[in-house]
Amino acid sequence: MDLAYFEQWVLKEFNINLSAYKSNQLHRRILSLMSRVGANTIEDYIALLKKDPAQRQKFLDFITINVTEFFRNPEIFEELKDKLKNELLPKSNSLKVWSAACSIGAEPYSLAMILDSLNSSGRHKIVATDIDATILNKARAGEYVYSEVKNVRKELLDKYFKISGDKYIIDSRIRSMVTFKKHDLILENYEKDFDLIVCRNVVIYFNQDVKDEIYRKFSASLKKGGLLFVGATESIYNYRDYGFDKASTFIYRKL
Ligand SMILES: C[S@@+](CC[C@H](N)C(=O)[O-])C[C@H]1O[C@@H](n2cnc3c(N)ncnc32)[C@H](O)[C@@H]1O
Repeated sequence: MDLAYFEQWVLKEFNINLSAYKSNQLHRRILSLMSRVGANTIEDYIALLKKDPAQRQKFLDFITINVTEFFRNPEIFEELKDKLKNELLPKSNSLKVWSAACSIGAEPYSLAMILDSLNSSGRHKIVATDIDATILNKARAGEYVYSEVKNVRKELLDKYFKISGDKYIIDSRIRSMVTFKKHDLILENYEKDFDLIVCRNVVIYFNQDVKDEIYRKFSASLKKGGLLFVGATESIYNYRDYGFDKASTFIYRKL
């Protein structure tokens, strides 16, 4: 399979940089997707993507992998809550937070609920971004199913959701704390002056050079003393190279 040719075509057609992804894993995943849709060659697959909008959406969903849930790894979210309470909130009543690669919004709304429950008088601002415009619309709508909210504790569920049929609808005050925007972590510049950046379960798909660049840019985007919260399989071993010290297993502090 001519992956390089396909990568060039995808960059031109979708403005997605596949060369940033781990190539063996990506290669395997594209082959499996092609066989599922009955495309034998890259040329057949490109022809299919050109003519069939449903297949284009399927390809984008497949590349972006937007699986998520509220309070993903709840015990690690408890550690974050602890750091917010003891490190960040005593210093500021208006925290600037970025949920990078936020998928359908479960992550930024989890952060909003934590902040509201710790300090409801604060004027916190949460920016939530993702490369995928379609899921950002779902995030803005703020409607979820049980499997997505299963980690939300009963008192938070009662306080911050309205239940309608089988839907869990996020409270409008929590929704108003979050601003959703389309943003590509690989191709675009990063905003500055964040107190907290949460980026979980996306850099695992990227190659080491891209990961390196992303961590450097996160570090530059954080205030001194600001925190970076990463996924439960994404420990950063060379955190010192990016100007961090370790605040807890999956949380790093900008020096
Ligand atoms: C597995 S989800 C993670 C969602 C959430 N952070 C969590 O941990 O539950 C990965 C998300 O990364 C987004 N994504 C993939 N590549 C991206 C990129 N280059 N820039 C920004 N977001 C990207 C996908 O669209 C998807 O929503």
